[in-house]
Amino acid sequence: MFSLKREDFGPGFDFGVAMAAHQIEGGQTDGRGSSIWDSFAATPRNTRNADTGKVACDHYNRWPEDLDLIRDGGFDGYRFSFSWPRVIPEGTGPSNPKGLDFYDRLIDGMLERGIKPYATLYHWDLPSSLQDRGGWMNRDTTAAFADYAALIGHRFKDRLETIATVNEPWCVAFLSHFLGIHAPGYRDVRAASRAMHHILLAHGRAIDALRAEGAKNLGIVVNLEKAEPYSSSPEDQEAAELGDALFNQWYLGGVCKGEYPQSIVDIIEDHLPRDWQADMDVISRPLDWIGVNYYTRSLYKFDASVPVFPFTQHRGDLEKNDLGWETVPEALTEFLLRVSNDYTNLPLYVTENGMSESNDAKRIDYFDRHLRAILDAKDKGVDVRGYFAWSLLDNFEWAEGFSSRFGIVEMDYASQKRTPKPSYFAFSKMLLGRALEVR
Ligand code: FCB
Repeated sequence: MFSLKREDFGPGFDFGVAMAAHQIEGGQTDGRGSSIWDSFAATPRNTRNADTGKVACDHYNRWPEDLDLIRDGGFDGYRFSFSWPRVIPEGTGPSNPKGLDFYDRLIDGMLERGIKPYATLYHWDLPSSLQDRGGWMNRDTTAAFADYAALIGHRFKDRLETIATVNEPWCVAFLSHFLGIHAPGYRDVRAASRAMHHILLAHGRAIDALRAEGAKNLGIVVNLEKAEPYSSSPEDQEAAELGDALFNQWYLGGVCKGEYPQSIVDIIEDHLPRDWQADMDVISRPLDWIGVNYYTRSLYKFDASVPVFPFTQHRGDLEKNDLGWETVPEALTEFLLRVSNDYTNLPLYVTENGMSESNDAKRIDYFDRHLRAILDAKDKGVDVRGYFAWSLLDNFEWAEGFSSRFGIVEMDYASQKRTPKPSYFAFSKMLLGRALEVR
C-alpha cells in the first residue's frame, strides 16, 4: 500500500492514468489510415518479438470496460491520445466520420462516469502519407498538424479538460530520427535537427489553431531525464551538461522562452532549417500548463570518437526496472523545482511516471516514492496540479513490444482479460480511502 493519503496533495489535485492510442487501441478498421508505427513494427527487427499494435488491448472495442476500471479505481482523469490517422486517414484532407464517432463515444463515456478527459493530439502515430512526404523533416507537416488540431478543437473543445499538443518531443525528434529506435527509424543528423525544430513549430501552430477554435487549457508534455556525469572528470561533467541541453533544455527552452541552448545550436546549426530563428515566436506561444513525464536518469561519459555529440550514455548501479532504467525519485523533485524556477510559473502536471516490472511490489514502492517526491516539490512551493500513472493497462511498449509491462492492470493478450494488480488496489485505497473488493 502507499504511505500517502489523497488529502496530502490538497484540494484540486487530480489523479489519473495515462495511455496512448497506438499502444492500446488496435481497431485498425473503420477507415483508419496507416501510421508510421504500423509499417515500422511490420519491418523485421524493429520491435521485440516482432510485436505490433494491430490488436494490442483492443481498446477500440473494449473501452467501456477500461473506463469502468478507471472510475472504480477512484481516478479523476484519463490521459488519452487521439489517433491522427483514425481521424484524418491521409494526414490531410477528408476526415473519417467513424474515427470521430469513436472519440465521441470514448469522451462521452468518460464524462458519464465522472472521469475528466485529458487529451493529447500527437502521441507518435504520424499518418504514413505524411511520412511519404518527409514527415517531421518537412515543414508542411506542421501546417497539416495545425489543421488536425483545429478539427479536434472544433469538435471536442467543450468536453475536454485539457489538450496537449505533443507528447515527448525529444522522442519524436531525437529517438526517432537520430537514434533510430522509434518510427520512422532514421539515424541522420539533418533529419533529427529538422524534426527537433519542426515538432516544436507544429506545437506552436497547433496552439494558435486551437485558440482560434476557442479551445482552452492548452499545454505540451515534455519528458525530462536527469543527466549526470559518469565520473567526476571535467570531460564527463561537460558531457552531462551537453546531454541535459540536448534532452531537456532544447524543448523547455524553445517552448517556454523561445530560445534553444547555444551549445546545441553550435553543433547542429548547419542542419537546422534556414531562418529557424523566425519561428521562435510561434514556438513559444503562451500556454496554460506544462506536463512533465519523468522516469529515470542517464550517466554521460565523454567519448571523443563519437561524432556530433561526443558522449556515450550509461546506467549506474541504483535499483532498476526490467528495462534497466534506474529509480531516482529525488530527480523528479529537482525537475519540478527547476521547471518552475527557470522556465515558467504555469501549473505543472506529472503526466507520466511508472515502472516496467513483473514484481508489482516494486512498482508500488516506485509510485509511492515518486508521489512523495511530488509532495516535496509542492512543499517547496511548486504548483503541481496532478499526477498520471503510466499506465492503466500493460500495453504495446513501442520497440519493446508486449514484453515490457507498465500496467497497474495486467493484460492477458490472448484472452484480452484485464486483471487489476496490487498496485491498482494501492491507488484505489489511497484515492477512495477504503479497500476495493478484489474481483
Ligand atoms: C514514455 C511514452 C509512453 C510510454 C512510456 C513508458 O516515453 O510517452 O508512451 O512508452 O514512456
